[in-house]
Amino acid sequence: MRGLVRETSLTAGDLIQPMFVRTGAELREPISSLPGISRLSIAELVEEAGQVKAAGVPAVLLFGSTSEKDEAGSGAFDDEGVVQMAVRAIKETHPEMVVVTDVCLCGYTSHGHCGFLRDGEVDNDVTVELLSKVAISHAEAGADIVAPSDMMDGRVGSIRYQLDEEGHPGVAILSYAAKYQSAFYGPFREAADSAPSSGDRSGYQLDPANSDEAVREALLDLEEGADAVMVKPAGYYLDVVERIKKETGAPVAAYQVSGEYSMLKAAAANGWIDERAAVLESLVSMRRAGADFIVTYYAREAAGWLSSGT
Ligand code: PBG
Repeated sequence: MRGLVRETSLTAGDLIQPMFVRTGAELREPISSLPGISRLSIAELVEEAGQVKAAGVPAVLLFGSTSEKDEAGSGAFDDEGVVQMAVRAIKETHPEMVVVTDVCLCGYTSHGHCGFLRDGEVDNDVTVELLSKVAISHAEAGADIVAPSDMMDGRVGSIRYQLDEEGHPGVAILSYAAKYQSAFYGPFREAADSAPSSGDRSGYQLDPANSDEAVREALLDLEEGADAVMVKPAGYYLDVVERIKKETGAPVAAYQVSGEYSMLKAAAANGWIDERAAVLESLVSMRRAGADFIVTYYAREAAGWLSSGT
């Protein structure tokens, strides 16, 4: 009877699994602050993507991890770069898998910032040009969706224009429109080795105290051609998810980030919470707030719990 009147559904089909890919062969390098998640070499990634798909999760979000970094983050738009090769490999083996790529420079710059630095400050417009090159190289490799996570102004419009010009009108843009300057990205920065070597990201990421600004960012990105907009982190920003969904009517994604995952894992490992119940509650709350789909490191595990119905 409770099922008949339930207002919100949560299925494996609503989830996206983030994955880290690195260069090198036969490697599976655990990330200590993200229990259960590893940096994978391409063959391992392809195999694990197959397991994600088999669990009912339709999409993966790829992040590259490399030790080859420079000032401009040029590894991010190398046609033979790790993400580009990974996209081709996944598409070859699992053509029906939706492949989303993170478009940013921070994992590839020597200074760890999400853009090109001029006098110690990120130069927005130069960065937008570089990001557009990254998006094109991902599209050429076969990505279905590119997801710019840098928070520069005007990057969605530039990426959309250049994708169309280069013959990729069907590649969609999932914009990290409301990405906050959050303390919950810590474990991710270990995974991608992308912590800024000086300063922080407050020049380009949103102030956690603001939500009008998040709505304005989402509206701008949609006007520039974004197909869906993302709120990140998710759990502490459900009001923002709800506002953006109501005020734009566009597809909205919520990203349960690395720190949110690690906290649940740590509490569960200590026996302080019931992991399965707590995770499914956190995810259904995101759907209740209005998220159409959810990026979560728990995707594959949650899919298993959902299908066993226990
Ligand atoms: C890159 C990027 C970050 C995350 C996704 N893309 C980190 C950051 O802004 O430092 C965070 C993801 C997570 O914590 O799971 N710009």
